[in-house]
Amino acid sequence: MFSQISTCGLMGIDGFEVSVQTDVSNGMPAFEIVGLPDAAVKEAKERVKAAIKNTGLRFPAKRVIINLAPASQKKGGAGYDLPITVSILAATDQMTVDDADETMFIGELSLDGSINSVDGILPMVIYAYKNGYRNIFVPKDNANEAAVIDGVRIYPAASLREVCDHFTGAARIAEHTVNLKEYFSRSAESLLDFRDVKGHENVKRALEIAAAGNHNVLLIGSPGTGKTMLAQRMPGILPDLTFDESLEVTKIHSIAGVLPKNMPLILNRPFRSPHHTISSAGLSGGGSSPKPGELSLAHNGVLFLDELPEFHRDVLEVLRQPLEDGEVTISRVNSTLTYPCNIMLIASMNPCRCGYLGDRRRQCTCTPKQINNYRRRISGPLLDRIDIQVEVPNVDYDDLTSRAKTESSAEIKKRVNRTRQVQLERYKGMNIYSNSQLTAGMLQKYCALSDEDNEMLKVAFDTLGLSARAHSRILKVARTIADLDGDENINASHIAEAIQYRSLDRKYFE
Ligand SMILES: Nc1ncnc2c1ncn2[C@@H]1O[C@H](COP(=O)(O)OP(=O)(O)O)[C@@H](O)[C@H]1O
Ligand SMILES: [Mg+2]
Ligand SMILES: [Zn+2]
Repeated sequence: MFSQISTCGLMGIDGFEVSVQTDVSNGMPAFEIVGLPDAAVKEAKERVKAAIKNTGLRFPAKRVIINLAPASQKKGGAGYDLPITVSILAATDQMTVDDADETMFIGELSLDGSINSVDGILPMVIYAYKNGYRNIFVPKDNANEAAVIDGVRIYPAASLREVCDHFTGAARIAEHTVNLKEYFSRSAESLLDFRDVKGHENVKRALEIAAAGNHNVLLIGSPGTGKTMLAQRMPGILPDLTFDESLEVTKIHSIAGVLPKNMPLILNRPFRSPHHTISSAGLSGGGSSPKPGELSLAHNGVLFLDELPEFHRDVLEVLRQPLEDGEVTISRVNSTLTYPCNIMLIASMNPCRCGYLGDRRRQCTCTPKQINNYRRRISGPLLDRIDIQVEVPNVDYDDLTSRAKTESSAEIKKRVNRTRQVQLERYKGMNIYSNSQLTAGMLQKYCALSDEDNEMLKVAFDTLGLSARAHSRILKVARTIADLDGDENINASHIAEAIQYRSLDRKYFE
């Protein structure tokens, strides 16, 4: 007696088809699972046996062999419990699956036969849909997430009993749908607004430029000046996620198992702010069955590293390549996995170890050596990936208590959107989307300066003592400022403003 049932495995952020083949033959009772199962899949044996018995069905007292094909691909997790069980029931004539070649089963079983949620449902359903599957049985708790994909019927199952009753016709499981429109409208409200930040006009301008050109930012200021508050408001002025971006973000959160149950689709750009004690594995992802790390959870959004110099040096090293490539590669024993991480990095730091260098309220207690050591914790190559460095000063009491109306995030976002559009058109077909991605070769073409302006920039370099790395950063940021102004050419005022966002380079990182 033989049966074959389909399910889905996960490799990185993509699904792959797994065919669960069951052969039941006479002979010494035995139960084997072959086809590169990991420890969790092997343990399915105990769960499957108990779940079948406790649902009032019969586990065959025969030789039961399960093959998970393709046998060459590693299978992990507990999501194979349900398809294995269904396959055994089908092979022993206890269940007849209609349209088996268009139907997938995914789910973990408890010993009592109830079905538990699994991570990564969304990429699996996407895979199933793209490969011609039309019916998918998923754990009830994953139903919202699964139903995001149009064109497949999602059947949420709370127990093995429900699945059996569905196929006997005793009680059909109702197809699950979600109203995506409703979710779209719900999300926008929860974002923090720049309207709440008093004063700091200069910093807000820098953040607007960052959002408009997709530049990474370093905020430098004493404790309590509002750095965290400012950074948290970035997602609200970044362009809205497109549906495809939203799916990609949701996929990653789905795999990591951090998707809220009532939120099937992530509609806001992520804002992740891992604590400075995070390990490199926590940042880049990994573990025995690899999960996306903070870098990938921030994909299409903001990674905020508060107190940057407090992070371990090796953790900061891990950042460099992914920031450049937009993806993070995790090495495993026999293979590598790649997760996307197109992120905007916002980092904050105090000006010195005690935090009060240059502060009006308190005296700095650091020695010059301590100050130097503190700053040197951030390596040049990492700084190289940060286009904008801006000081966050103390806000005047008058500003803080002022009732003057400040601009809302929605208003700022309009300008950001417009400026992004200009860049999308300019770089069409070039595989880049924003000024921050301009390569050295492209800089000459798109950031050309007049002789006069070139001379001005040179003088600024000499007098301010800017480091060489500042040069291309200044050009890119000047390009974005010109785009915000709607100017085709970069002019002196654009350059002058861009230099402002590097002066810290000279002041702090000589
Ligand atoms: N410019 C500001 N406008 C309104 N509130 C502010 C401002 N700056 C600071 N605050 C208040 O001070 C608190 C501390 O700011 P925070 O962003 O945590 O500072 P930092 O991260 O620089 O240490 C904020 O939660 C906010 O209530
Ligand atoms: Mg803070
Ligand atoms: Zn100090």
